[in-house]
Amino acid sequence: MNKNEILAKQEEYLWPNHLLYYTDPLPLDHGDGLYVWDVDGTKYLDFFAGILTNSVGHNHPLVVEKMREQISKLVHSSTLYPNENHVNLAEKIASIAPGALQTSFFTNSGTEANETAVMLAKAYTGEQEIIALRHGYSGRSALAMGLMGQSEWRIGPSQIPGISHAINPYCYRCPLKMTYPECGVACAEDIEDVIKTTTSGRIAGFMVEPIQGVGGFITPPKEYFKIASEIVEHYGGLFICDEVQTGFGRTGQHWFGIEHWGVEPDIMTMAKGIAGGMPMGNTITTLEIASELVGKGMSISTFGGNPVSCAAALGTIEVMETEANPNHVADVGSRLQSGLEQLWDKYPLIGDVRGKGLMQGIELVKDRNTKEPAPDAVSEIFEQTRSYGLLIGKGGLYGNVLRISPPLTANNDHVDEALVILDHAFAKVQEDF
Ligand SMILES: Cc1ncc(COP(=O)(O)O)c(C=O)c1O
Repeated sequence: MNKNEILAKQEEYLWPNHLLYYTDPLPLDHGDGLYVWDVDGTKYLDFFAGILTNSVGHNHPLVVEKMREQISKLVHSSTLYPNENHVNLAEKIASIAPGALQTSFFTNSGTEANETAVMLAKAYTGEQEIIALRHGYSGRSALAMGLMGQSEWRIGPSQIPGISHAINPYCYRCPLKMTYPECGVACAEDIEDVIKTTTSGRIAGFMVEPIQGVGGFITPPKEYFKIASEIVEHYGGLFICDEVQTGFGRTGQHWFGIEHWGVEPDIMTMAKGIAGGMPMGNTITTLEIASELVGKGMSISTFGGNPVSCAAALGTIEVMETEANPNHVADVGSRLQSGLEQLWDKYPLIGDVRGKGLMQGIELVKDRNTKEPAPDAVSEIFEQTRSYGLLIGKGGLYGNVLRISPPLTANNDHVDEALVILDHAFAKVQEDF
């Protein structure tokens, strides 16, 4: 099918509220490593990786082979029947997850993983209230929309009783109008204030992303999670860490984002990059916490732990270990970050560069003093980078953050190629602002 035929059917048969990137949407056809091609044969360097999900690039031969092998044996079984790939994947993730996190429940998406985590925290603590953060993103179910802290992503009246939102550690736009480090990370103390003033004083858990992804790669200061987790523990809650974007080496140096802050979660959720593009979610916790559900009700997931998705995940982690381990991500990520900082020196449109590893955000502003958000500049940068053959992402409550997050198999040459394109794009767009 050609582009126009695809777009015509998209309009006729898919809900019009599907968010599509670019004023002229871009139907993709195939991929190879760091590159994808559209249906017209135009090649793009992919620095968004299907929303941080093609974690080892497109169609990695090892992942494809593992899937092919499994497809010819057994495509589906459901969680009713134990399966070799399912248990091996759970064992592998336990070996790389921090602390005592050992036992997994696989589902199909980040949303489901978060739902499962909240259900478990409520069962374990016997409490019902959850604290989340403003600017957070948790998924697209009713509960997940209630957990998130961004009105734009909430469809309809999605307030869920029992969820309260604390302010987030957004240093570039501090909600307390303070400056780090003199602030003493006062934002973390808001969690206690919210518990004391808006809940019964007893909570089931605190759901948080180590780096807020859709929120615009907001990266908390190094002290934040220790203070936060102590408060949460004091009020009887579990620390639920949403690693849907930050997991599996994305932030460099460690396998999971929260490890940068030296805090061990009670429950961790993961999805996106876990299976290199195959649908999968997982909720991992300790044996003690998971055991609480025994005898409390039945639970299955029809597609959870699908043997083909598990084969893809096992292959993906193997590639990460051999070609794209967290140290590689840290090295390539620091080249990317310093390149972006050089763009900051050149272009006043760039207000902030932040992130870790291969999860780098650039916040665009009309004026560095007023920090007035520049979402129009993001749209223009999008069109320019596309025309030069680079795909990137966007986000942020104000729609003014570029999200740069290539597959973890990216090397220095890919980074340099992307930086040259970004430089050209900014040179053009800066003139209009
Ligand atoms: C941090 C985070 N949690 C949860 C989700 C929901 O995941 P999914 O879209 O797989 O349901 C997302 C999706 O972007 C996310 O970024």
